[in-house]
Amino acid sequence: MNYAMCYAFLGVLAVIQGVNGLRTYNGPVPNLQHSPFGWGGQSTGGSLNKSATYIVSNSTELREALALPFTKTIYVDGVIHGNQLDNGSFATCETFIATSGSPGSAVRQFDFNLYIFSLNSTYLSLVTAAAAANETFEGRNATEYRALLGHQNGWRPVVAATMKAQVGFKLTNNTSLIGLNEGAALNGINLYLSSVNNVWIRNLKLVSPKDCFPAPETFPSSWNALYDAVGIVTASNVWVDNCELQDQLSGEWVEPDVIPPGWQVDRFDGLFDCEDGTDNVTFSHNIVRNHHKSLLLGGGTKEADRDLGRMHFTIFGNHFDNSASRNPLMRFGTFEVFANLYKSRNDKAPLFTSSSSLRRQADEPGADVPLDALFQYHLGIYNQSTVHVQDNVFIQGGAVANDTSRIFTLSEDTLPQRPARLCLTQGGETAAFPSTMNGEPINLADIAQGTIDYFVAKGSAAEGAVLLTCDGFEVASGLPRQFSSAEEVAQYVRAEAGQTH
Ligand SMILES: *[C@@H]1O[C@H](CO)[C@@H](O)[C@H](O)[C@H]1NC(C)=O
Ligand SMILES: *[C@@H]1O[C@H](CO)[C@@H](O)[C@H](O)[C@H]1NC(C)=O
Ligand SMILES: *[C@@H]1O[C@H](CO)[C@@H](O)[C@H](O)[C@H]1NC(C)=O
Ligand SMILES: *[C@@H]1O[C@H](CO)[C@@H](O)[C@H](O)[C@H]1NC(C)=O
Ligand SMILES: *[C@@H]1O[C@H](CO)[C@@H](O)[C@H](O)[C@H]1NC(C)=O
Ligand SMILES: *[C@@H]1O[C@H](CO)[C@@H](O)[C@H](O)[C@H]1NC(C)=O
Ligand SMILES: *[C@@H]1O[C@H](CO)[C@@H](O)[C@H](O)[C@H]1NC(C)=O
Ligand SMILES: *[C@@H]1O[C@H](CO)[C@@H](O)[C@H](O)[C@H]1NC(C)=O
Ligand SMILES: *[C@@H]1O[C@H](CO)[C@@H](O)[C@H](O)[C@H]1NC(C)=O
Ligand SMILES: *[C@@H]1O[C@H](CO)[C@@H](O)[C@H](O)[C@H]1NC(C)=O
Ligand SMILES: *[C@@H]1O[C@H](CO)[C@@H](O)[C@H](O)[C@H]1NC(C)=O
Repeated sequence: MNYAMCYAFLGVLAVIQGVNGLRTYNGPVPNLQHSPFGWGGQSTGGSLNKSATYIVSNSTELREALALPFTKTIYVDGVIHGNQLDNGSFATCETFIATSGSPGSAVRQFDFNLYIFSLNSTYLSLVTAAAAANETFEGRNATEYRALLGHQNGWRPVVAATMKAQVGFKLTNNTSLIGLNEGAALNGINLYLSSVNNVWIRNLKLVSPKDCFPAPETFPSSWNALYDAVGIVTASNVWVDNCELQDQLSGEWVEPDVIPPGWQVDRFDGLFDCEDGTDNVTFSHNIVRNHHKSLLLGGGTKEADRDLGRMHFTIFGNHFDNSASRNPLMRFGTFEVFANLYKSRNDKAPLFTSSSSLRRQADEPGADVPLDALFQYHLGIYNQSTVHVQDNVFIQGGAVANDTSRIFTLSEDTLPQRPARLCLTQGGETAAFPSTMNGEPINLADIAQGTIDYFVAKGSAAEGAVLLTCDGFEVASGLPRQFSSAEEVAQYVRAEAGQTH
C-alpha cells in the first residue's frame, strides 16, 4: 500500500495517513474480554488481518473504511454523526428535501405535515370541495393546495431515498467495527449488512437514525419508520458484543413530535432487525435501552422459504432496559435466549392472572413515558420458531410490577402441523435454579402455558401450534459462563453488558 507516510499528530503518534485519506492505526486498543461463541461463534470479523487496521472519526472516513474490499478492523474514535455531510456540515430533514431531485424540481416542495394531511380522506374531501367551489382553504388557493397535497405521497420515497443515502452505512465482508473507548458512538447511523459474511460490531453506542419521513399507521402513535440501528439481511456469521443500542446519545426516550390533530410521530424502527435467511448471529453483552420495537428476528411470512433452516441466533448476557417489545420477536428460526436481564416498567392490566402474584391492577399509561414506550412484551414466539429460553432474570416496576403475563407473547401461531416449539430450562449443565421476577421465584413453564391458553382462548393462536417441549433441543455448550442463581445472572449482566469502562 502506498502510504503518504505523513504522521498525523492527534495525541497518538501511531496514526498514519494512508491512501484515500484513510488513516491506519496501531495505537492502544480497548481491553475487550469476550470471544465469539454460540451461533455466531465462527465469526472472525477483521481479526485475521492485523495489517489492515484503521481509525475513523467522521462519517466520510467511516463510509470509506467500510467499503475497503478486504479483511479489516476499523476503530471508531469519538462520536460519528450519520447526518454529517462530506463538506462537514450537518444535514437536517430540510436538507434532505432541499437536495432531492435537481435544482428547481417539484419534489423540493415536499412537506411532512402536508404529507400527513394528504392521507386524511376527510381533510382531502374538504379541500376538494373548496377547490370545486373556487374558494380558498385555510388561506390558500384550494385548487393549487389540492394539487400540492396530491403530490406528497409520491414525493415521499424520493426524499426518503436522499436520507437513506446519507444515514445508511453499508458493511462489507470480513470487517470488525470497534469503538476505541466508551466515548465511541455511531449517532443517527443505520448500519446495514446485506448479503455479507463475517462481521464483528463491538464496544459501540449504536444510536438509530430518526426517520424524517415515517408513514403513519394508526392514529395517534403507530408509525412505520425506516432505519434500524443495525439492519441485517441475508448475512451470516455476525457477532455484536458490548454495544449500547438506543434512540439518542443520552440514552433517554425521545419524546415524539406532535402534528395536528394530535399525531405522535414515532420516528424509530428496530434497533437490531435481522431477516431474509440471515444465519449464525450472536448478540451478546449489549444494553438495549428505552426503545419501542427492539429486536426483530425474522421479517415475516413472505420470507419463510428463505428463513426456514437458517436464522440461528444466540442472544446472551444482554440488558434489556425499558425495551417495550421484541426482546426479541422470533420467527421461523432457531433461537437461544440465555442469561439476559430484563428490566421493564409495566403499567398495563395483566392479560391473564392465573400465574401472576398481583397486589393491584391498573391500566393507566405511565405519566412520564410516550404512548409507544408502554411496555408490551419481552419474548415473541411467532410462526414456526424454535426457541430455547434459559437463565433469564426479570425486574419490573410500574403500577403492575409483579405481573408476569407479558413475558411471552404469541402471534402467527396457527399451524399445528408446523408448530412453534419452546424449551424452558434453567442452569444448563449445573444445578437448576428458578427464574425470578423482582427477586421472587416464578414458574416460567406455568407462565408460558398461561400465555398459550390465553392466546388460544382469544382465537389468535391455534391449539397445538405452540408446543412446550425440549425434545430435539441440545444442552447449550461453549457459553462464556454457567450460572447457579438468578442473582448471579443479574450481577454478570450488570458487569459485562455495554461498552467497556
Ligand atoms: C473473507 O474471508 C474469507 C475467508 O477468509 C475469504 O474466503 C473471502 O475472500 C474474504 N472476502 C473478502 C471480501 O475479503
Ligand atoms: C490485509 O490487508 C491488506 C491491507 O493492509 C490488504 O491489502 C490485504 O488484501 C488484506 N488481506 C486479506 C486476506 O484480506
Ligand atoms: C454542504 O453541502 C450542503 C448540501 O449540498 C449544503 O447545503 C451546505 O451549504 C454545504 N455547507 C458548506 C459549509 O459548504
Ligand atoms: C474527516 O477526518 C479526516 C481525518 O481527520 C479529515 O481529513 C477530514 O477533513 C474530515 N472530514 C470532515 C468532513 O470533517
Ligand atoms: C382528518 O381531518 C379532519 C378534518 O380536518 C379532522 O377533523 C380529523 O381530526 C383528521 N384526522 C386525522 C387522524 O388526522
Ligand atoms: C375563481 O376565483 C378567482 C378569484 O376570485 C377568479 O378570478 C376566477 O375567475 C374564478 N374562476 C372561476 C372558474 O370561477
Ligand atoms: C386558484 O388557482 C387557479 C390555478 O392557478 C386559478 O385558476 C384560480 O382562479 C385560483 N382561484 C382563486 C380563488 O384564486
Ligand atoms: C461476501 O461473502 C458472501 C458469503 O460468503 C459472498 O457470497 C459474497 O460474494 C462476498 N462478497 C464479496 C464482495 O466478496
Ligand atoms: C451456520 O453455521 C452452521 C454450522 O454451525 C453451518 O452448517 C451453516 O452452513 C451456517 N450457515 C450459513 C448461512 O453459513
Ligand atoms: C411485588 O412483589 C413483591 C414481592 O412479593 C412485593 O413486595 C411487592 O409489594 C409487590 N408489588 C406490587 C406492586 O404488587
Ligand atoms: C406461517 O408461515 C407459513 C409459511 O411456512 C405461512 O404459510 C402461514 O401463513 C404463516 N402463518 C401466519 C399466521 O402468518
